[in-house]
Amino acid sequence: WSRTATKADGVLSVGGVPLTELVREHGSPAYVLDEDDFRARARAFRDAFEGYEVFYAGKAFLCTTVARWLAEDGLSLDVCSGGELAVAERAGFPMERIGFHGNNKTLGELERAVELGVGRVIVDSFDEIERLARVTTELGRTTGVLVRVTAGVEAHTHEYIATAHEDQKFGFSIAGGDALDAVRRVLAAPGLRLLGLHSHIGSQIFDTSGFEVAARRVLGLHARVATELGVVMPEMDLGGGFGIAYTTQDDPSTPETLARGMSEIVEHECRALGIERPRLSIEPGRAIVGPSMCTVYQVGTVKEVALDGGARRSYVSVDGGMSDNIRTALYDADYSATLASRASGAPAALARVVGKHCEAGDIVVKDEFLPGDVRPGDLVAVPGTGAYCRSMASNYNHALRPPVIGVRDGKTFTVLRRETEADLLATDVGVS
Ligand code: LLP
Repeated sequence: WSRTATKADGVLSVGGVPLTELVREHGSPAYVLDEDDFRARARAFRDAFEGYEVFYAGKAFLCTTVARWLAEDGLSLDVCSGGELAVAERAGFPMERIGFHGNNKTLGELERAVELGVGRVIVDSFDEIERLARVTTELGRTTGVLVRVTAGVEAHTHEYIATAHEDQKFGFSIAGGDALDAVRRVLAAPGLRLLGLHSHIGSQIFDTSGFEVAARRVLGLHARVATELGVVMPEMDLGGGFGIAYTTQDDPSTPETLARGMSEIVEHECRALGIERPRLSIEPGRAIVGPSMCTVYQVGTVKEVALDGGARRSYVSVDGGMSDNIRTALYDADYSATLASRASGAPAALARVVGKHCEAGDIVVKDEFLPGDVRPGDLVAVPGTGAYCRSMASNYNHALRPPVIGVRDGKTFTVLRRETEADLLATDVGVS
């Protein structure tokens, strides 16, 4: 839960706004974004990682409001598509504080990034280095470049979001020699200014040993570039991926602990290699925005089923589902839920919070104990939905993507409005 979530008489409030009122005003389902909590987390990373450049990973959740908060609070921004870049541009985000990611940026995206003057393009393939070099020459511009490398570590997280083992699409292999080759090619291109190496090992990671091994290997390459190519790169980006608590089982590290750990490893390694410490940056997304949002749903139907062995489970169907939170279906992610609109003295019963989509895998919360009298009309809130929920939301079954409602000091403000059927039909130009 965000820091300002409280419950009185069974009614959950966030940012001083009772969710019953929020739903009365804005409808359901809705994502609720706690401004103070978001900004406190962003500043906590900025302050704990003093001397680092902290890039917020926009893929976790991005809109102009959040981009403005980040700009004001002195963070930088990682974008990974022309669309995210467009949001940053509209928000007036300082372009020199943007890092542009992606393993297959289009020519158009690269041209736009160079024209806008983004601070760093993180290159991810030989094709891209060549393409970016051409773009800078044609536009008569230069651009800062980081080379994304693969450290060859197995991050302990879901297979789909681990990115530092060899057999996946991101980065240049350090072990295989491509990374050094990529560095050479960047150095040879007149429009590209080599700033450093970049490593991101995966997401929702708790075991920090993966970061350690990666940092060691990337620093090893950094030192080789100095000795073999005579080039001292000023920077190094160690990526994001810091895990958050989705349930009470998870025990995430604080930004301070992460910063201390990372700085110790880097300092130790730099001493051992006899090199100067490059200016470091990190890219947390989930750890900033994840806990600062929850989703509030209204219950539509409740159905009890018998389980093997005689136990029972109630299927609590809410007015959203896998279109606003695909993570449970896609990564088998765990979430929790709470009755948010009233107190209940009913004994807790095993429940599964499911959506309204046409497939059985449309599950929001796999297992939760909710009061046994949960009924249609109740509101249920799911915490920790700030990261990769709205940003991965879809219009499956022609669902309208929910709004993001900001809350602060007892007031609400619309950050992203609810989609309408007109929005959906606007792209359907087949029949006039
Ligand atoms: N930097 C790079 C280069 C990344 O690829 C990512 C995430 C991040 C930073 C931020 O990672 P974070 O701190 O948010 O973990 N959709 C998945 C997560 C995919 C992460 C993709 N890259 C999920 O819902 O778990």
